[in-house]
Amino acid sequence: MIHPDDYLGNGVESILYHETTIYSRLDDLAREITEDYRGKEITALAVLHGSIIFMADLLRRIPLPLQMESLNVSSYHGGTESSGTVTFHQELPDLEGKHVLILDDILDTGRTLHAIRERLDKEAKVASTRVCVLLQKRKELAEDVAADYVGFRIEDEFVVGYGLDYQGRYRNLPYIGVLNAADLPS
Ligand code: IMP
Ligand code: MG
Repeated sequence: MIHPDDYLGNGVESILYHETTIYSRLDDLAREITEDYRGKEITALAVLHGSIIFMADLLRRIPLPLQMESLNVSSYHGGTESSGTVTFHQELPDLEGKHVLILDDILDTGRTLHAIRERLDKEAKVASTRVCVLLQKRKELAEDVAADYVGFRIEDEFVVGYGLDYQGRYRNLPYIGVLNAADLPS
């Protein structure tokens, strides 16, 4: 088990949400999703890689018939600012007739989710689409897109842990912390 202090002073400035806080929020989200989808089968579409840990914990709290798909896209290309272009690293899975619940780690500028929704609307013939994100930043979105379920609303800071990365690292932290880029080893 990673001790919270292991990364403190080494890129992580402070802890925003501890594991226990995240789990209790996931209980609420899962309850809400379960009520909304009762009588239907969910197809969870995980936006890779950031949503993997969130998805694993959330879906195990939803006692409904469910299938899992994933989509490998990227928009950051390594920095702490959205690059503005969303790259699809694969074709869409077959989602025809499915009730798709898109899962992403964080809604920042909204470009990623907007691009995915647009693609689904054009190509996938889905029965329905909803969006669930663990985090949403309190800032103006660059695209007109909304999440139906939001775990936590946070300030406009760069966060890592619990699936969220900086240059591919920190995803395995059990908590969500604020990254202090100045603190990083060069
Ligand atoms: P958007 O397209 O600007 O909404 O960005 C969404 C994607 O950018 C997310 O799926 C994350 O992978 C990444 N991202 C945005 N903000 C953060 C952050 O604070 N920490 C880590 N990744 C982030
Ligand atoms: Mg990322």
